[in-house]
Amino acid sequence: MSKQTFYVTTPIYYGTARPHLGSLYSTLLADVVNRWQKLQGSDSYFLTGTDEHGQKIMQAAKEAGKTPQEFVDSFIAAYKEVWNLYHIDYSQFIRTTDPYHIKGVQELIAKLMERGDIYKASYEGWYCTPCETYVTTQDKKAPPCSSCGRGTVAISEESYFFRLSAYADKLLAFYKENADFILPSERMNEVLSFVESGLKDLSISRTTISWGVPFSADSKHVVYVWVDALCNYITAIGYGDSDKKEMFEKWWPAQLHVLGKDIVRFHAVYWPALLMAADLALPKQLLVHGWIQVDKQKMSKSRGNVVDPIELAKLYEPEPVRYYLVRKMPVKWCPGGLTNPMLRCIMVSW
Ligand code: ME8
Ligand code: MG
Repeated sequence: MSKQTFYVTTPIYYGTARPHLGSLYSTLLADVVNRWQKLQGSDSYFLTGTDEHGQKIMQAAKEAGKTPQEFVDSFIAAYKEVWNLYHIDYSQFIRTTDPYHIKGVQELIAKLMERGDIYKASYEGWYCTPCETYVTTQDKKAPPCSSCGRGTVAISEESYFFRLSAYADKLLAFYKENADFILPSERMNEVLSFVESGLKDLSISRTTISWGVPFSADSKHVVYVWVDALCNYITAIGYGDSDKKEMFEKWWPAQLHVLGKDIVRFHAVYWPALLMAADLALPKQLLVHGWIQVDKQKMSKSRGNVVDPIELAKLYEPEPVRYYLVRKMPVKWCPGGLTNPMLRCIMVSW
């Protein structure tokens, strides 16, 4: 009998700074799941990596006086050092500047074009650079970002749009049939209310920045960084490479994407819709955790209030820190228990 396969991923972290305790937390949860799966006899694959395109990276590189490529290159060793120090047993480290990834993203865009799910129009509205997200409002003045609360900037440019609105009903039907798609289940509510309130088509290309995956059909454009980033989960395992069909079929769909609550919408709405449009299976489950806070503020690279995992390991050794993070920092207590037996390993630690 062939072994059961399991594919688990972490978010790919922005290559704008070294990893901090929050990045370690998500990666550690994925590591625990991967180790548990292997102990159970599954063939398990564990993906992590870095998100290296977009305006946020371009700006940060400029401030550091480097080219975007030099800038993102400068953090890779730190990620690998922290993951090694903490015995993170990942199978693959993807970088969105890797040529195979770029090719895979272009393949997905070509597929959506062919399906008629992409059209050209113009985008006029607000953009939050730290979150790389479009913010909608009825107001004339700049709204705060609905996700992080920071200021937004006006953008107005020609853009290709993905027909996200056409997928609202299919998404709602999918959530209904897969009530345990999001763990903990309370997080499903915010997703439902977002989709039920009506989906607008999504701008998926930019002309005013150049640091991104070239949009093959129109060289003035680069692919919107979130579409580029989400594709990492499939390009890593061979999407877009005809020599890797078998590998792709072996691992996709992922059993589990681990992520923080800041990026639920991208994973629970945009990602499934893009996959539906490309005729690909949807991931089985999202494990969404809360934030490690410092003085009631999210620990974050852009706020600079971070705890360095390397310093922590010097004080306490990596294994006690691993134990502490998994045992004492609850993802969220689920009174109903988990429906997915594959995740029981985490539940006993909550
Ligand atoms: O959002 N507590 O990258 P990012 C717990 N590149 N977890 C935290 C945390 C905190 N204070 N801060 C960050 C991006 N995290 C995109 C992702 S995925 C296709 C693209 C963890 O560097 C948590 O998992 O901002 C959060 O969702 C992720 O890091 C965001 O990392
Ligand atoms: Mg972030």
